[in-house]
Amino acid sequence: MGHSRLICSQLLCSCLLLAALLVSCLVIITSATNDTDRLALLAFKAGITSDPFGSLNSWNDSTDFCRWYGVRCGRRRHRVTVLDLNSHRLSGPISPHIGNLSFLRELSLQNNSFFLEIPSQIGQLRRLQNLDLSNNSLTGEIPRNISGCSNLVYLLIYYNQLVGGIPVELGSLSHLSTRIFCSYNGLSGIIPQSIGRLTKLEQLALGANKLSGTIPPSVFNLSSLTGVDVRENQICGNLPEDIGFTLPNLQFFSIFDNQFTRSIPSSISNSTNLTVLDLTRNELSRKVPSLANLHNLQRVLLSFNYLGSGGSNADDMSFLCSVENLTPEY
Ligand SMILES: *[C@@H]1O[C@H](CO)[C@@H](O)[C@H](O)[C@H]1NC(C)=O
Ligand SMILES: *[C@@H]1O[C@H](CO)[C@@H](O)[C@H](O)[C@H]1NC(C)=O
Ligand SMILES: *[C@@H]1O[C@H](CO)[C@@H](O)[C@H](O)[C@H]1NC(C)=O
Ligand SMILES: *[C@@H]1O[C@H](CO)[C@@H](O)[C@H](O)[C@H]1NC(C)=O
Ligand SMILES: *[C@@H]1O[C@H](CO)[C@@H](O)[C@H](O)[C@H]1NC(C)=O
Ligand SMILES: *[C@@H]1O[C@H](CO)[C@@H](O)[C@H](O)[C@H]1NC(C)=O
Ligand SMILES: *[C@@H]1O[C@H](CO)[C@@H](O)[C@H](O)[C@H]1NC(C)=O
Ligand SMILES: *[C@@H]1O[C@H](CO)[C@@H](O)[C@H](O)[C@H]1NC(C)=O
Ligand SMILES: *[C@@H]1O[C@H](CO)[C@@H](O)[C@H](O)[C@H]1NC(C)=O
Repeated sequence: MGHSRLICSQLLCSCLLLAALLVSCLVIITSATNDTDRLALLAFKAGITSDPFGSLNSWNDSTDFCRWYGVRCGRRRHRVTVLDLNSHRLSGPISPHIGNLSFLRELSLQNNSFFLEIPSQIGQLRRLQNLDLSNNSLTGEIPRNISGCSNLVYLLIYYNQLVGGIPVELGSLSHLSTRIFCSYNGLSGIIPQSIGRLTKLEQLALGANKLSGTIPPSVFNLSSLTGVDVRENQICGNLPEDIGFTLPNLQFFSIFDNQFTRSIPSSISNSTNLTVLDLTRNELSRKVPSLANLHNLQRVLLSFNYLGSGGSNADDMSFLCSVENLTPEY
């Protein structure tokens, strides 16, 4: 009798403990759940006008939003840290409510058909590190509020229909360290000098826009750069004499189809990692320097310039003899 009563009270005890544990668990979960993200995601979904693969079908109230397709939450908080819906043929505007996902670190919407403007509320995402909106149909300007994304590491917005200038404010995003890809848009104006403050920037691609003016000296000063691509713009000026000293890590350099003048600096041979050098369709003249040091060079494109027009020197094109295993393309 006494024995079983003891067991009974022990059982009761454990049951009570378990219940208490469950209740406190629930309290923790509910207090950690912030409805802001769920509402923001639903607002994002409401903006979608076409979802041919049904990618957002799981975005309904039968499932916790952290388990919705393309959504990832952080381990500590019940907050969205990643929204990755790349290549799903989604179309519609990007809802301004996206700015309420205040813990977002990655927004990958590339390779869809998002249209209208990039909402300026994106600037509220101060934890955002990776922003990829490339290959959509976005119009309007790059919002200046993007300067609020103070932790941005890369910015990929190529293949859209963006217009207006490159915001000066980009230069304040000191974490921008890998890539700024803005190619294939309708961006105009000059390349802001402030870009030269991004001392960790590795790749700058601004090709196929309507940019004019010169490349600021501060940009030629970014020794971290491995790739510079400003092809198909209306950029003028000359390549600085010390380009090979200031950009020693350069691998890819294209100024194809612009209005660069004067000669190709001989210091270019100090950028020893160079693999692609495309200077086609400019107004470069005079002697082509020796490229003999550039052992990694795979493509050199120099046609449609005034090279070799130096007059007095018969050896203006003698660089050809100095390049091994290399087929110059014209
Ligand atoms: C949810 O998070 C947002 C932004 O982080 C904050 O403004 C709001 O007060 C939070 N709400 C609750 C109920 O915690
Ligand atoms: C996003 O935040 C703004 C400002 O706090 C608020 O007015 C709006 O209702 C929020 N959006 C959603 C979908 O909750
Ligand atoms: C809601 O989402 C679940 C998966 O999370 C899915 O199985 C279900 O079909 C969805 N409901 C609707 C009405 O789409
Ligand atoms: C882009 O999306 C299409 C499907 O819409 C897919 O076939 C293609 O592989 C994607 N391209 C990239 C570069 O992801
Ligand atoms: C852009 O996306 C379309 C699908 O929406 C795809 O067919 C195309 O290959 C993509 N282009 C690039 C350059 O990724
Ligand atoms: C954009 O930034 C400006 C100033 O930085 C601010 O006044 C404005 O409220 C922001 N707009 C949005 C939608 O975040
Ligand atoms: C280039 O960098 C050097 C030192 O790294 C600095 O002294 C100089 O002012 C910079 N020039 C420009 C145009 O930014
Ligand atoms: C060139 O590339 C190599 C290997 O990728 C790298 O270690 C080196 O730092 C680069 N820069 C120069 C100036 O050689
Ligand atoms: C540039 O290259 C030349 C020829 O190889 C070399 O003599 C010179 O020291 C290099 N200069 C710098 C600053 O690396």
